[in-house]
Amino acid sequence: MPGFELFGDKERAAVNNVLETGVLMRYGFEGMRNGQCKAKELEKALSVRMQVKHAQLVSSGTAALTVALASAGIGAGDEVIIPTFTFVASFESILALGAIPILVDIDDTLTLDPSAVEKAITKKTKVVMPVHMCGSMADLKALKALCEKYDLLLLEDACQAIGGTFDGKPLGSYGDLGCFSFDYVKTITCGEGGAIISNNEKYIRNADHYSDHGHDHVGNDRGAETHPFLGYNYRISELNAAVGCAQIQRLDEFLAIQKRNYSVLRSALESVPGITFRRVPEGGEESYAFLNFYLPTEEKAKAVHKNLGTAGVDACFYWYDNNWHYYRKWEHLTEKKSLGKLPNEVVTQLPDYSQSDFSKSDHWMGRAISCLIKLGWSEDEVQKRAATMKEILEHV
Ligand SMILES: Cc1ncc(COP(=O)(O)O)c(C=O)c1O
Repeated sequence: MPGFELFGDKERAAVNNVLETGVLMRYGFEGMRNGQCKAKELEKALSVRMQVKHAQLVSSGTAALTVALASAGIGAGDEVIIPTFTFVASFESILALGAIPILVDIDDTLTLDPSAVEKAITKKTKVVMPVHMCGSMADLKALKALCEKYDLLLLEDACQAIGGTFDGKPLGSYGDLGCFSFDYVKTITCGEGGAIISNNEKYIRNADHYSDHGHDHVGNDRGAETHPFLGYNYRISELNAAVGCAQIQRLDEFLAIQKRNYSVLRSALESVPGITFRRVPEGGEESYAFLNFYLPTEEKAKAVHKNLGTAGVDACFYWYDNNWHYYRKWEHLTEKKSLGKLPNEVVTQLPDYSQSDFSKSDHWMGRAISCLIKLGWSEDEVQKRAATMKEILEHV
């Protein structure tokens, strides 16, 4: 998945362009920057590539989620539905606003189960946040229909699936708002960075102001700008944006490599009895960032994971036992461990997840293995990896 595998002259040249002007900040310093703003350049490129009207860069994918929620007016006590299988950033971004993360079961897509989403909707629900984990997507059609029925926002976390599509639209562009991460291990990277995309001008204007202390960005004198509302600092730097400008030009090249490597592994495993693959919802095309498959039992999945590691097949994940991505290991959330006092709304409204029944999620996650697709593999390496994986899976 990571674009960092293929850094080259384009990235270096873009960073040097910034160092030559000396303007490392995206706002202000108009006299010095000679018209150059890498952040704006990347926003333009991203909105064109993602077929949306607007894009706003921020400092990380986590920041993108927080800013996206804030820009749509989400605040204390509002409920946001997220899947049990995601990255901790999902609930962090929601809690940062005093809003309430409502965990909901996943299905064989490894993303939100639309029927579980519908059951979780209450009068306080404001947002459904599908997370397109490991290169593939949620059933966006079903989720959009629910959002329309209950008047909710659809916010896509496409951080792990940039380049995938649904109904011909780039992931992130199907909902009301979409978020990307450009951290160091994403398909394209800025080192650190993130983005919000939307066709809604108001949300993106809000995101622009909110991510820079509420500055209205009117005129050329930063000190004279007014602040229509409170904000924070979630700005990206020009150096980070410069790397992204080079990387976005290479996105399609990276996606083609991912797809080629994925296809070799997938066709090797397809004939192994008992192996099934993650369901991609009708109308979807993966980004091929991971190959995700199911073993018939939890015991077999554990054994396969262990044997892959022993055989040197790296970057294959058994998320069920992983500390980052699955609710089972999120004691800090379950036990509401916080350095300072949490907002009252969070204290009183956050469900007691230690008592929740997520056995439907366990059913899928306990048997799922996700193997990262790297860009730097030679043809020979992919073939060898495919043969080793097949051999291991056939003998468990
Ligand atoms: C699904 C998902 N959402 C959000 C994030 C947060 O992105 P960042 O690391 O840029 O804050 C990540 C990062 O791994 C992620 O995987």
